[in-house]
Amino acid sequence: MKLGYSAAALAELERPVEDGESAPAQGDLRRGHVLDGRFRITSVITRGGMSTIYQAEDLHDDERLVALKVPTMTLGMDAKQMPRFEREDEIGRRIEHPAVTKFIQVEGKKSRPYLVMEFLEGITLYHAMKERPRLPEDEALRLAAEICAALEYLHEQGVHHRDLKPENIMLCRDGTIRLMDFGIARLTDSTRLTYVGFVPGTPHYMAPERVQCKRGDGRTDIYGVGAILYEMLTGVIAFDNEDPMVIMNARATGDPLALRKVYPGISPQAEEIVLKAMARNPADRYQTAAEMRADLENPSQVELTGRCERLQPATRMRRFWRKARIIAPWIVIPIVAQVLGFFLFLHFLGKK
Ligand SMILES: Nc1ncnc2c1ncn2[C@@H]1O[C@H](COP(=O)(O)OP(=O)(O)O)[C@@H](O)[C@H]1O
Ligand SMILES: [Mg+2]
Repeated sequence: MKLGYSAAALAELERPVEDGESAPAQGDLRRGHVLDGRFRITSVITRGGMSTIYQAEDLHDDERLVALKVPTMTLGMDAKQMPRFEREDEIGRRIEHPAVTKFIQVEGKKSRPYLVMEFLEGITLYHAMKERPRLPEDEALRLAAEICAALEYLHEQGVHHRDLKPENIMLCRDGTIRLMDFGIARLTDSTRLTYVGFVPGTPHYMAPERVQCKRGDGRTDIYGVGAILYEMLTGVIAFDNEDPMVIMNARATGDPLALRKVYPGISPQAEEIVLKAMARNPADRYQTAAEMRADLENPSQVELTGRCERLQPATRMRRFWRKARIIAPWIVIPIVAQVLGFFLFLHFLGKK
């Protein structure tokens, strides 16, 4: 899957380079380019707005396949993207867990910024759910428990992922999973990265405190697992809407629709777990990933609290503003047109 490329640009990327030709210091890499005398590009895995992921062979390690994450060098990249990229590099150097993508260290100076990871053969949870939107309950709970196990480790290391979503979870061919993409992760002992007028993360899985531009903590990731599990169980994204502002407002002021209203086949225990993880107030959620994993692994022991009966829809205020946003253009445009018409009329009257 290669996103963001036209067919012609893709063909250009796939055009092999001369044997042994080293990679350019800037711009796209092509199949056959050798980066820093070590990584020979074999293909483009995917291209996002901020980075391109290449598959490459590590010539220092028996041509083992690796994945390279290369930031897209655009104007303004240094100001915004570079600190995030460096943070991801720093986190990658610190972490090692069977369910977290392994980063490979490169000694010496790199000719351009890039990260090297183990190459993961598999399919992202996002693509898996495109093929099969609703997973069997035991499989969904098992996957969520594995994500929680990885989070337990990360949180112990002082790392908060903050961008949990199906695109960032790889279901590997050997049956294991990997969390990927620490691009907006945070280290508790580091200074804050600031973003002006931009909340990083995807609104679909974003915790209410992140919507409100708060830093968040381990419980922010708990919310993310809850939102992913909601989707795996129901086949529907909680709070889905084509307008990101509506999604964010709904998250901040309301609860998701009870899962068994979406799909009655779900057990009350699984519903209870998801709704607890997605509680609006972080204090009402599981406080640790270990707590949540314990419930996911023993759903029959989950105490039912009637949480599904106490869910609150988003506030009237939000509905009012939502309606206002839709209605406003219908009122404003005719008024502006009439005012313009009036001035044009005066203008022509003056010319006569
Ligand atoms: N180590 C890897 N092995 C194989 N594919 C990968 C690897 N890392 C990322 N990918 C693929 O690239 C996509 C984007 O990677 P990610 O790190 O999430 O970058 P971005 O910051 O652009 O979202 C993933 O969804 C996955 O499909
Ligand atoms: Mg990603």
